[in-house]
Amino acid sequence: MSINHPNFGKMADNQVIVFDTTLRDGEQAPGFSMTTDEKLRMAAALASLGVDVMEAGFPAASPNDFESVHAIASSIAGPVIAGLSRAAPGDIERCAEAIKPAKRKRIHTFIATSELHMAAKLRMTPDQVIDTIRGSVTLARKYSDDVEWSAEDAARTDPDFLCRAVETAIKAGATTINMPDTVGYTTPGDYARIFADVIARVPGADTVIFSAHCHNDLGLAVANSLAALQSGARQFEGAINGIGERAGNTAIEEMVMVMRTRPDVYNYRLNVDSRQILKASKLLSAITGFDVQPNKAIVGRNAFAHEAGIHQDGVLKNALTYEIMTPESVGWSKSSLVLGKHSGRAAFRDKLVTLGYTELPQVAIDEAFARFKELADRKKTIYDEDIEALVDETAADAQARIQFVSLSAASHSDGKSEARITLSVDGVEKTGSGKGDGAVHAAFVAIREVFPHEAALNLFAINAITEGADAQARTTVRLEEDGRIVDGQGSDTDTVVSASRAYVHALNKLVAKRERTVQLSPAFLTA
Ligand code: KIV
Ligand code: ZN
Repeated sequence: MSINHPNFGKMADNQVIVFDTTLRDGEQAPGFSMTTDEKLRMAAALASLGVDVMEAGFPAASPNDFESVHAIASSIAGPVIAGLSRAAPGDIERCAEAIKPAKRKRIHTFIATSELHMAAKLRMTPDQVIDTIRGSVTLARKYSDDVEWSAEDAARTDPDFLCRAVETAIKAGATTINMPDTVGYTTPGDYARIFADVIARVPGADTVIFSAHCHNDLGLAVANSLAALQSGARQFEGAINGIGERAGNTAIEEMVMVMRTRPDVYNYRLNVDSRQILKASKLLSAITGFDVQPNKAIVGRNAFAHEAGIHQDGVLKNALTYEIMTPESVGWSKSSLVLGKHSGRAAFRDKLVTLGYTELPQVAIDEAFARFKELADRKKTIYDEDIEALVDETAADAQARIQFVSLSAASHSDGKSEARITLSVDGVEKTGSGKGDGAVHAAFVAIREVFPHEAALNLFAINAITEGADAQARTTVRLEEDGRIVDGQGSDTDTVVSASRAYVHALNKLVAKRERTVQLSPAFLTA
């Protein structure tokens, strides 16, 4: 027998499926939650990157998750859209409903198989777990031909029981078998042996795709995933920038570039367009407010920067001396002066297209152009990164109830600083003022005067987007109210304006979250 996958048909022996879980496992990490609108923007970037499967969320987890998965399934074409579900029938049905509009879909259901998880968490016997696997996969197959089954904590599961569980799932109709290292405990040698053992021992193993899903608690997620591929896995799961529970998941960009750079060792075929990597990485940072560290492989600011004189000299003579892959192959272009204050609308639109913004509505282009003109008056050199920050923010602002209009602030080192802010709330301009310890604090007090609220400020972080004294500052603000946590981002050459924009962005998200909770009827919550 050989694999004839419902969504991928007959695959070449060395084809590897890239399963992206940025919007599910990635989004579960503290501070990384995204609104439906943000998930849709990220999903579009993942589709352009060419991931094969996109896990859009966990529909039974919350009405919000359901809504996001449903929206992605309704509008994102290309990748298979997957939803995660526990083994409970209600979860599986909810997942099936959420992914229904997708042309290509997958139900991903899981249950823990390690002794520790079965006894301590599930409080189930191994036989009960086996029965649940049979029941859950059989039910999932009623809704989708493509069913992935995961053995949670597989890497710490007794090998004989793992084989029994996998065999049960295959017999019940699973088409992909995922064996996660849920707690990031395994090593490349051990993980490779687990895959080799199961694939050799389980009847029907040659009819399904095996998948690796690794967490990075010991910094081994990429190494472990590669080891699984060498033992016969043909799908790996990961997230952009390696985000995910605790220390994160396998970083997709690293896996892709290992295979592209070392085909002599990892000779696998991928559908991904690696030149889209940086764009996806940056969009994720802009949405979540968390930049990757400068030395992060592939997507860090320093990943292709050569500081030491001897290195610079070598690279100028022949880039191969210190570069094992080209910056362009992952989407880096030399930061250059792109547009100036005399650039017109047509040049701006051209630039947006080169940066990959091909589907922005006209109103978002107009608004971004207006902000670009303001920026060009204040900032001498405008880089691609400036334009990207501006457009990403404008897209987020477009439908916001509260919009930043203007701000004036004065800092006094020997007394309270002052700020006066004008916001447009539901189309009506309102002005407020505030005093505080520093101009940023004063601006936040002024925002509270214009739009009273009780949310607590939990996080405040500022980074420079580009270099130079006139660089734009990107600010992240986290607000919390009644257990609802939201992050907002803002950027501007003026730090106080940047912080105020971020605060307003977070406030808009909070208001949207509040409204969603009120709108949801009890029937929807318990359906
Ligand atoms: O880490 C894990 O085990 C998971 C499963 C739900 C696939 O994320
Ligand atoms: Zn996981």
